[in-house]
Amino acid sequence: MRIDIVTLFPELCDSFLSASILGRARAKNLFEAHCHQIRDYTQNKQKQTDDYPYGGGCGMVLYAQPIADCLRAVQAQCAAQGRAKPHVVFLTAAGRPYTEADARRLAQYDAVTLVCGHYEGIDERVIEAFGDEEISIGDYVLTGGELASLVVADSVLRLQPGVLAEEKGYQDESYWDGLLEYPQYTRPEVWEGRAVPPVLLTGDHQKIDAWRAAQSRTRTRLRRPDLYARWCETHPLTPLPKWKRGENARLVKNDDQWQAAAALYAEGLRTVCADVCTVAYLETLTPQACREKLDAERRGGWAFYLHYTGGAADGMVGVCHKTGEIAHLFVAEPARGKGIGAKMLDFARKKLAEHPHPTLTVLDANTRALALYRRMGWRPAGVAAVYDPASDPTAAVYTQELRLRYEG
Ligand code: ADE
Repeated sequence: MRIDIVTLFPELCDSFLSASILGRARAKNLFEAHCHQIRDYTQNKQKQTDDYPYGGGCGMVLYAQPIADCLRAVQAQCAAQGRAKPHVVFLTAAGRPYTEADARRLAQYDAVTLVCGHYEGIDERVIEAFGDEEISIGDYVLTGGELASLVVADSVLRLQPGVLAEEKGYQDESYWDGLLEYPQYTRPEVWEGRAVPPVLLTGDHQKIDAWRAAQSRTRTRLRRPDLYARWCETHPLTPLPKWKRGENARLVKNDDQWQAAAALYAEGLRTVCADVCTVAYLETLTPQACREKLDAERRGGWAFYLHYTGGAADGMVGVCHKTGEIAHLFVAEPARGKGIGAKMLDFARKKLAEHPHPTLTVLDANTRALALYRRMGWRPAGVAAVYDPASDPTAAVYTQELRLRYEG
C-alpha cells in the first residue's frame, strides 16, 4: 500500500511515520509513505498558501490551486508506478466520523492520499473536485488536519500484512467485534497492593476467555451504550442460560407469594426509577403500594410468576394473555448477573405462545434491560409514554417508555 499525506507540515508527518512500529515496517517496505509540502505547489512569489475567506469571517482559507496541483503530482507518481488512481480523503472537522470500519475499508485501497486542512479550512471547490470523502476523527476541533491524517494513516497501516507482530489476531474480522477491549495486566502479580484478577492466573483458557468477554461487555455497556446497543442487536443471546437444579418458576397464588412479588416489584421499580424520578415519587413505591397495583392488574387479567433459587424468591415476571403483554421483569439485586432475567423473559414469552409477537415496555434509561431484550430478539415498536418534568410531577428528567415487540 502507498499512503501520501498532503500538508503544510510534511516533516512532522514524516517523523511520525518513521518512528516505532510504523517506522520499522516502512523500513522493511511493508508500505510506502510520502509527505508532500503544499507550499511547493504555490504559484505566487511569496509562496502564500491561504487567503481571507469570501464573505468575511475570521481565519484564513487554504487556496484550491496548490492542493490541486499537489494531488495531480501524486496521481502522476502513482500512475508511473502502475498503481490505481489514489483514493483521496480530506481531513476536516466537518467530515463524517471515523471508525475502525473505515480503517478496514481504507486498508483495502492500493493508494490512499490524505489531505490536511489548516487554519479555518480549505477552499470547498478543491474538495468537490478531488475528494472521495471527508473524514473527522472526532467531535472536537484541531488546529490542522495533520494529527487527524496520522490517526487515519496509523489505523490503516497497522492492518497491512506484516506490520504487527501478531498479524493474525488483528486481521481476523471478528477481532474487532464492536466491543471495547477487556483490561490487561502484566507482572508483577501484585503491584502497590493491587492484585491481578485471580482468573488470569488459573491457566484455564475457557474461563479466561469467558471472563474477558464479560469484561468487554460490561465496559462497553457502561462507557459506550451506543456501541453496546448496536452490538446487542447483532449478537443474539445464544444459547439461553440453562435452568439449574433448585431453580424454578411458580405462579403467584398464595399470600406469601403475593408479598414476595410486591417486595421484588417495589425494589425493582425503585432501582429502575432511581435516576429518572423524583425522590418524593420513589418514596411512594412501597411494597404495599405495589401489592395494590399487582392486585388490580390480576383483576385485569394478568398472571405473575416468581423465580425461585433453592426455595427463595429472587425474580418475577408478569404476563397478560388478553393483550399479549409482558411486564414487571425484575431480579433481586444479589441475584443479578446470573441469567435469571433472560430465563424469566423466555419463560414469559413461552407462556404467551398464542401471541407470536408479544410486547413489553421499558424505560429508555434502563440500558441494561434494553440490551437484554434486544439480544433476545425484541425490537423497538414505538414510544408507549413520555415522562416530562415540565408536566409530570413524578419525573426528575425527561424519560421515554419504549415499546418493544418480539421479532424472534
Ligand atoms: N481538522 C480540524 N479538526 C479536525 C477533526 N476533528 N478531524 C479531522 N480533521 C480536523
